[in-house]
Amino acid sequence: MAKLYSVPQRVRDGGQQPIRSMSDYTDVSNQWVEHPNDFWLAETKKSLSWEDEPSVGLEGDYHTVCHEPFSWFADGRLNVTESCLDRHVRSQPDKTAIIWEGDEPGDGRTLTYRELHAEVCRAAAALRRLGVCSGDRVIIYMGMVPEAAVAMLACARIGAVHSVVFGGFSSEALRDRIDDCGAKLVITQDQGLRGGRPIPLKATVDDALAKTDLVQSVLVYRRTGIEVGWVDNRDVWWHEAVVDGTDMVSGPEYVHSEHPLFILYTSGSTGRPKGLVHTCAGYLTYTAYTHRTVFDLRPDDVYACVADVGWITGHSYIVYGPLANGATSLMFESTPLYPDAGRYWDLVERHKVSIFYTAPTAIRALAAHGEEPVDKYDISSLRVLGTVGEPINPDAWEWYYSVVGKNRCNIVDTWWQTETGGICIAPVASATPTKAGSATLPLPGIRPVLIDPATQKTRAGPAQGHLCLEHSWPGQARTVWGDHARFVQTYFSTYPGLYFTGDGCRRDDDGYYWITGRIDDVLNVSGHRMGTAEFEAALVSNDAVAEAAVVGYPHAIKGQGVYAFVVLNSNNGNVPIDQLNQTVRTAIGAHARVDRFQSVPGLPKTRSGKVMRRILRKVAEGQTDALGDISTLADQSVVAAIIQGAATQR
Ligand code: WTA
Repeated sequence: MAKLYSVPQRVRDGGQQPIRSMSDYTDVSNQWVEHPNDFWLAETKKSLSWEDEPSVGLEGDYHTVCHEPFSWFADGRLNVTESCLDRHVRSQPDKTAIIWEGDEPGDGRTLTYRELHAEVCRAAAALRRLGVCSGDRVIIYMGMVPEAAVAMLACARIGAVHSVVFGGFSSEALRDRIDDCGAKLVITQDQGLRGGRPIPLKATVDDALAKTDLVQSVLVYRRTGIEVGWVDNRDVWWHEAVVDGTDMVSGPEYVHSEHPLFILYTSGSTGRPKGLVHTCAGYLTYTAYTHRTVFDLRPDDVYACVADVGWITGHSYIVYGPLANGATSLMFESTPLYPDAGRYWDLVERHKVSIFYTAPTAIRALAAHGEEPVDKYDISSLRVLGTVGEPINPDAWEWYYSVVGKNRCNIVDTWWQTETGGICIAPVASATPTKAGSATLPLPGIRPVLIDPATQKTRAGPAQGHLCLEHSWPGQARTVWGDHARFVQTYFSTYPGLYFTGDGCRRDDDGYYWITGRIDDVLNVSGHRMGTAEFEAALVSNDAVAEAAVVGYPHAIKGQGVYAFVVLNSNNGNVPIDQLNQTVRTAIGAHARVDRFQSVPGLPKTRSGKVMRRILRKVAEGQTDALGDISTLADQSVVAAIIQGAATQR
């Protein structure tokens, strides 16, 4: 039985959120069970500032989703930036909204709510001047600078739909996203900076735009001052456009609750990333609620989530949730190891961070450097430590708990997805006893079920199965941009009446949930979600490769590594590793890399031509004695050759 860690007294005491004990947790969860719509209507009215308050909660359900998306608070009208900015400008104008820590230690600046609001209004006016209207799509391809958050909020201010593309993506990946959402404008910067290295953001945008003519304007924030290519009548400097002006009103554009707030592309089991659509009111309600509940947010907290705004964690828990709650949110441009393994703790000491949220990969990488880089700094301000993005192994959890948390913080291991918008299964910092490696219990309003894939039946009590969610919550994605059928097919057809997460999961005797990882063809490398099919499409686009199959394997730091089985066109057996990885980088981006290649004579296929990935996964994991039934293979001799090849490679 895993040890139960009780909530340290200093974490339990002194907060203001309603859940302060397990009996509170049960009470609040029951309030939802009894009146789910009333529960969320009350939360949304408490959490957001409304132009017209809604009178309805959920409409539609998982059975009707193929006809039309479900909706939350459909008869309300609002602008999310009023919740994130205007009301705080009235109540706490001089509170710091964003602390920005640049790439070099100590380089940075802060923006109060008043300053952030003013900057967002100026940027919104600039977007209007550039012809962006409500409903238009804007791509944001930036690094971790406050202007990225300003750009997101400026879009929201005028009802435009932003789609942030992580700055590591290649020009091809960027162009696919621009084309898919039909973006009118791109916001970028001359260069990004990360760990002392420049990232050529503007040049990548130029490359992407060379083959598409949808985009009318490119707004360029100057970060490093390097000279960049310039297209007259298309490119506009941020500092020339985002200025005080009286020619445009920068007041909020009121939209309906279900107006799209953003599109965020994420990987699934096909080669084509899908643009998940989140809508204004439900998303903001849910991120605000979960942010203050899970982290037990307090008025004086300095909250630091060190994710990138290019991923959902940055959207929900750097920008929208914290700002809706009027919190102080830190944005971090650098990496955990720059200039050394003490960077996070230096950050915590200087800014007196009380809530810190990172990923298991970073924790494992830092644990490998030992305790000394942590102990050099005074990190006694920490109270809550969060983790997200991938399963955390108990060793890494315990290191985080004892070395960083000094046994006096609560750890919140938060399970959720781009699709869920916000945290679904996680401890409530002020109440939930934890276990090393478990995301613990569902938040109020979330109903996890475990399905036995063989029988399609729900498993009760302690069990293992496919994780599904039984009831809608406001933060849930509503559709895939331009392809509602794909949304229904991906999430609601495997187990009719349920949302299927794609994760495997175990529930223990105490009802605690342990996420075991993806059961579909999605890889999770250092918390970066990528599809095996995206790697395969890239590899076969290289002339050297006839066929490819990519699977994940356990990796000590990154969680998962990428293992590619390739059938080469020439038979000399030498894999051109660098050349193939360059192809992958061009197709996907700098964060995508194959760790291990194996040249194979053929792929294990069924008689109908389907690659049996299960076998390849076992080989990649080194479990060649547990391959299971291979009698349905068209050519069983291939398997022996693959096993032998893997053995010589090791
Ligand atoms: C995985 C990131 C275990 C999971 C917010 C999920 C986790 C995928 C956890 C979503 C966690 C996320 N424990 N696994 N605490 N959090 N995952 O869309 O496999 O980038 O399906 O969203 O990350 O990744 P995404």
